[in-house]
Amino acid sequence: DELAEARARLGLTAGGAGAAGRRSLALVPTMGALHEGHRSLMRIARERAEHVAVSIFVNPLQFGPNEDYDRYPRTFDADLEVCAAEGVSIVFAPSVEEMYPPGRQVSVSAGRMGSIVEGEFRPGHFDGVLTVVLKLFNLVRPDIAVFGQKDAQQLALIRRMVADLDVGIEIVAGPTVREPDGLALSSRNRYLSPEERTTALALSRALFAGARHRTPKEILGAARAVLDEAAQADPPLVLDYLVLVDPATFTEVSEEHRGEAVLAVAARVGTTRLIDNVVLTLT
Ligand code: PAJ
Repeated sequence: DELAEARARLGLTAGGAGAAGRRSLALVPTMGALHEGHRSLMRIARERAEHVAVSIFVNPLQFGPNEDYDRYPRTFDADLEVCAAEGVSIVFAPSVEEMYPPGRQVSVSAGRMGSIVEGEFRPGHFDGVLTVVLKLFNLVRPDIAVFGQKDAQQLALIRRMVADLDVGIEIVAGPTVREPDGLALSSRNRYLSPEERTTALALSRALFAGARHRTPKEILGAARAVLDEAAQADPPLVLDYLVLVDPATFTEVSEEHRGEAVLAVAARVGTTRLIDNVVLTLT
């Protein structure tokens, strides 16, 4: 109800998307602990629509039983200040009870694409992501939604869901924001000790090393060499996967592949799990 009132106040309720006199709305879904990566998405949203909504919801459905749901950083007051500073019109921060009242049965399946690459290491994760994202879309009813390239498989699956379920919301991707030394910004970076952070730099270094090559074999070999070395560091990097995949399907590309490909990596340093990727063009 509060959301409906906020929408009405902003002139967002007169008919469907594109109706005369109606203002446009862009949604940036987040789990809070907002950083410069999230802020960059809010700025893209502002360029694309008259009003920006940010959702802040740590979605229990997308965390596995041994993952960090309980210790996921929650910094709500600081997050509200970030949203205010970025000119956000609506902050939607529902409780778990509001989003998932007892008795729910129906959810979104990410299909086979949800169980490969990242999905192999996080069973059920992408079902949880797509279910909450579709609920957020239905509640906030934005015209466009902005997601980060940082979570490339999530982005690909959201595009797939929008196409397969006729969602009718334009999906916009924002580039990955990095620290000056290459580390991709993540809410989970704050878990890293200084020594772990040094080891973690191998993820982006491996991707950049791979990006200097031309064929899948060379790209993967160069990236793998950096990760192998980091596996010997103290503290060590523990690799989950390194893959070169089609950006839309996340299936591994052949040696003959031409066009865009995503070089994606996931690894653990200490108890922190990190992911990163770069988009390459194979000619
Ligand atoms: P969260 O990890 O909070 O990320 C929210 C959005 O910020 C996602 O679209 C993510 O790709 C983007 N993002 C994260 N780090 C970034 C960086 N360094 N540069 C650019 N964009 C970055 O992703 C989620 O939350 C959840 O799965 C969600 C989609 C909200 C569903 O619960």
